[in-house]
Amino acid sequence: MKLKLEALLSLGIALGLSSVFAQWLDVASLDSGNSTKWPAPALTGGKSWGDAYAKASALVANMTLAEKVNVTSGILGPCVGNLGGVPRLGIEGFCLEDGPAGVRPVHGTSQFPSGLATAATWDVDLIYQRSHSMGKEFYDQGVHIALAPVTGGPLGRAPRMSRNWEGWYADPYATGIASYLSVKGLQDAGVAATSKHFIAYEQETFRNQYNRTEPYSIFPAGEQRSISSNLDDKTTHEIYLWSFAEAVRAGTAHMMCSYNEVNQTQACHNAYTQNHLLKGELGFQGSIISDWGGQHDNVASALGGLDMAMPGSGYGQIFGSLWGENLLELAQNGTIPEDRIDDAAIRILMPWFWLGQDQAKLPEVNAIPAYYNGPNGYRDIREAETAGLVRRIGAEGATLLKNSGVLPLKKPQRIAVLGNDATDNAIGTNACGTGYRDCPKDNLNGTMSMGGGSGYAYAPYLVTPLDVLKARSVKTGAEISAITLDTGVNASIQSLLPNSDVVIVFVNSWAVEGFDRADIKLHPNHDALIAAAVNSSSNVIVVMHIPGVVDVERWIDNDNVTAVIAAWYPGQEAGNAIVDVLYGDVNPSGKLPFTWAKSYDDYYPNTIIADAVTAPQSNFTEGIFIDYRWFDAQNITPRYEFGYGLSYTTFEYSDLLLDESTAHSDELAIQETNEAFAESEYTSLYDVLFTVSATVTNSGNVTGSEVAQLYASIPEDDQPPRVLRGFDKVKDLAPGASSTVSFELRLKDLSVWDVVKQRWYVPRGEFTFSVGPSSRVLPLSTVWSKST
Ligand code: NOJ
Repeated sequence: MKLKLEALLSLGIALGLSSVFAQWLDVASLDSGNSTKWPAPALTGGKSWGDAYAKASALVANMTLAEKVNVTSGILGPCVGNLGGVPRLGIEGFCLEDGPAGVRPVHGTSQFPSGLATAATWDVDLIYQRSHSMGKEFYDQGVHIALAPVTGGPLGRAPRMSRNWEGWYADPYATGIASYLSVKGLQDAGVAATSKHFIAYEQETFRNQYNRTEPYSIFPAGEQRSISSNLDDKTTHEIYLWSFAEAVRAGTAHMMCSYNEVNQTQACHNAYTQNHLLKGELGFQGSIISDWGGQHDNVASALGGLDMAMPGSGYGQIFGSLWGENLLELAQNGTIPEDRIDDAAIRILMPWFWLGQDQAKLPEVNAIPAYYNGPNGYRDIREAETAGLVRRIGAEGATLLKNSGVLPLKKPQRIAVLGNDATDNAIGTNACGTGYRDCPKDNLNGTMSMGGGSGYAYAPYLVTPLDVLKARSVKTGAEISAITLDTGVNASIQSLLPNSDVVIVFVNSWAVEGFDRADIKLHPNHDALIAAAVNSSSNVIVVMHIPGVVDVERWIDNDNVTAVIAAWYPGQEAGNAIVDVLYGDVNPSGKLPFTWAKSYDDYYPNTIIADAVTAPQSNFTEGIFIDYRWFDAQNITPRYEFGYGLSYTTFEYSDLLLDESTAHSDELAIQETNEAFAESEYTSLYDVLFTVSATVTNSGNVTGSEVAQLYASIPEDDQPPRVLRGFDKVKDLAPGASSTVSFELRLKDLSVWDVVKQRWYVPRGEFTFSVGPSSRVLPLSTVWSKST
């Protein structure tokens, strides 16, 4: 409580009691929608966009008001989002397409592994390569602005949030690393990145006020308000803003504001989060793009920091008549100052210059008609090596949760395959992802390679596990038989399984944008399928295509369940990826990007708010204690801890060393933030203070890769027992071989947010740095003290 009060005082706010949260967070006094209190900062171009700033400013100075409005307001067109150009000044217009797993809705492109599957690899090279490869596909399809990546909204606070699989880790540090790399990967390929969704976007239920898609809209459109994420200053900084800061550092061209309200002001109108935090504190120079329907008001959004209205008046105006003609009129009558529109136009054009899109002739825009009335066209721009990359990420991300020695598969043997998830969707490869909800509950949906909504990308093909297992059997001499129905097959199971050496059951759970998962169960038929398998076989391997945690408690400890793999949503090469792991061609090294609880109730309460009220409120009362921080602080034993994952070999850790001679200044900032910090001896919050290193030895019999993790215990009363502050993957270590893992600790990694002084500081006292294979197995530790 003290902390929260200080937080408010620090913002120069007199405490009032008007808010419904007066006892917890004085939202009313924060006044987050007040653009007089939280004005837009002046543009400079930042560290890297100085030239672009000069060019964009000169161009905008030559534009009429109508032309400026044209480059800020969405219109109808072939892409998911479209901006009109200013042809007389050489601006042809802009095409914006989703999404984080590949170009959508466009054919002739790849379905990459989901963010979560990629996160589970903990492999910085693969995270970058996926984005870079995807970036080339965006570029080659004529897309100027990719509506990707997801960079911490959602972060994964709520286990049932149905979009967590689009993003990364339930941890700001690791998501920060992935945000930086994925923005850089896209932009190195020439397409502008849109980091999304800013900020505290952690549930779908009540995400917007319209009745268009959501069954939960109980009140008429306009009366219903979006869910308000209410969070204090410390939580904002230490948890939710962190990964967006990394996206800024990577030079993200754009940011997308989210659907929710933040502290009772619509995110896309929120002067405090957009003007003050993002453009001020983080020094963001690019443009803020509204999520489709996240803009509810022409004036509040403009003054609150929005720079690009999407889809604006496009999309058949189903979200209203936004900007365009309205903005013109509002500027002409003085309601919105013209220099605010100049600022927005410059922010949109700066990255266009910086990325060289003004010079480059992008290929013609290629979008499909089924979605938004665009021109027809099929152009396959996939590169030959992309399939291999998708396969590799799928295999490296597959997380081995249990193995009693049955894996890797011995050969030859009699294999029974069970479950419709092993094979093709009976109604078409992409039948689960084309629209927002298509994945008919009563259909056999086949291998779940991706979740649904705007995060889906069309699979050009889908290699199913059964395809690959059969092809393998030809080579290994195994016998294979598959039961690909999920129900009504008990008699078949009872006759096939006792005559099989091993049973591989494929199960899944569907998650789609717009609807949070009702629970954390597998598909309704799949627990029963596993139960039937364990009744007829003592060697059952379970493979799960899932968007996050699922309840495994009914069967996980059954001795007949001999191995379990979380294969996530792995993309078009699903079958190749999992069979690589099953046969040991790839030794599993995936580790959990979130905490896998034994019971849903073990997570903090009230993560998805579904109260039938016009102004639903989600109070982030757990504060900075999300995911493993909560489990550690509350002493709750999870089923599998954050960072957990098995291998076919074993690793030993030794020789921990903390070396201050490696200190160096920040070398990674493409753009710099303005975050304040106490330690005046450093030039940047991202300067490296020292390196911690350790030796990892492969103590088993097969080559393997290991993700070593570093956790810091920060000496401040309000901190969790430990927080992740480094990870390093050693790859393909031969039996008996050793390798060094090292972790650079930056000033920010040691800092906490001072709510009174509004800056980061390093607490005085002893820091413990622990290194090991997961958040709860940390064999090595060392102490570092900060005294002055
Ligand atoms: C809504 C989603 O939240 C966002 O991620 C996406 O980019 C837009 N729709 C456009 O499809």
